Amino acid sequence: MKAVRIDNYGIANEVAYCTELPDPTPPATDEVIVDVAAFPINPADLLTIEGKYATQPPLPYTPGAEAVGHVSEVGAAVDEFVPGDLVMLLSRENWVQKRKVKAAELLKINTDSDDLLQFAMLKVNPATAALMLRSYVELKPGDWIIQDAANSGVGHCVIRLAAKSGVKTINVVRRENQITPLQSIGADAVLIGADNLAEQVNQITGGDGVRLAIDAVAGRTSLELASCLADGGVMVNYGMLSGEPCMVMPDWIVFRHLTLTGFWLATQLRNMARNQIDTLYQELTEDISQGVLSVPIEATYGIDDIKDALAHAGRENRSGKVLVLPNDAA
Ligand SMILES: NC(=O)c1ccc[n+]([C@@H]2O[C@H](COP(=O)([O-])OP(=O)(O)OC[C@H]3O[C@@H](n4cnc5c(N)ncnc54)[C@H](OP(=O)(O)O)[C@@H]3O)[C@@H](O)[C@H]2O)c1
Repeated sequence: MKAVRIDNYGIANEVAYCTELPDPTPPATDEVIVDVAAFPINPADLLTIEGKYATQPPLPYTPGAEAVGHVSEVGAAVDEFVPGDLVMLLSRENWVQKRKVKAAELLKINTDSDDLLQFAMLKVNPATAALMLRSYVELKPGDWIIQDAANSGVGHCVIRLAAKSGVKTINVVRRENQITPLQSIGADAVLIGADNLAEQVNQITGGDGVRLAIDAVAGRTSLELASCLADGGVMVNYGMLSGEPCMVMPDWIVFRHLTLTGFWLATQLRNMARNQIDTLYQELTEDISQGVLSVPIEATYGIDDIKDALAHAGRENRSGKVLVLPNDAA
């Protein structure tokens, strides 16, 4: 079978390559073999390959935080999956044509939808958006929130999930051509660039400010985002796109009781019971199936073209995600 490997950390499209590895041996009693159908390339995958992520796996290493596929073989004691089931891989190292895992590392995707590519992006970004929206501030319909990198995969999910629950979003992007697409999926306001946000947000919210700021950029953008918070508001940082430190004025923390905190999906999932994880992903599966959640896709590649796919995923100004279909004929 084909698999993506890295032998050294470095620029993703330089160090990652597609190679032949032996097919998995038959499954043990509690194991399942999955034909991997699709996986997205996320910023965290690129950072992991560069050796800059929170976890640095031992080398050589097969990347891949998320993927979906179809069950092809099950061990004798596995009764929760049958061949043909669509499943999401909860573990990592998924950029391969076939994965052999314990049944407990799989989550069955119960859906009538055949939108495989959207389900390939189920694990990371929709869950990140959903948990950030519900874990820090009790938001009511009509409340305002603000986010940066709003045209990202997470950004799309935040807009769509907030709109579903009546929460209003102010969305900061870097390009004017993102205004119409984001408005069309339910963004209440789209702002270009992160300068003088407080003044603009004051006008938009009628002086109320926002209760939650969702920050993937950090640096000066985080300072601008925090300046929009109402007293007692929370800024959640979940990304390091600028490579700069998070910024917030000390008097906002001291006198206005703002909170700066961080979100990492890995920690959240680790702290959730399995039935809570199943419930979360069942809700998100329904949202994808019904078209509530959908993230634009810019391109798909075969696994042989992993270097091109990685170079593409590393570009700025994309109009959507880059995915790989490892079992599609080249
Ligand atoms: N903490 C967690 O658990 C967690 C989970 C999921 C994602 N994330 C993080 O969330 C962020 C978005 O992930 P994604 O998969 O949704 O991204 P994505 O769909 O691949 O999109 C990348 C986004 O980053 C923006 N961007 C890139 N460099 C930037 C910079 N220097 N300043 C401002 N914006 C910049 C891009 O804007 P342009 O289109 O203008 O280039 C685009 O909006 C990443 O940082 C990722 O690591 C964190």
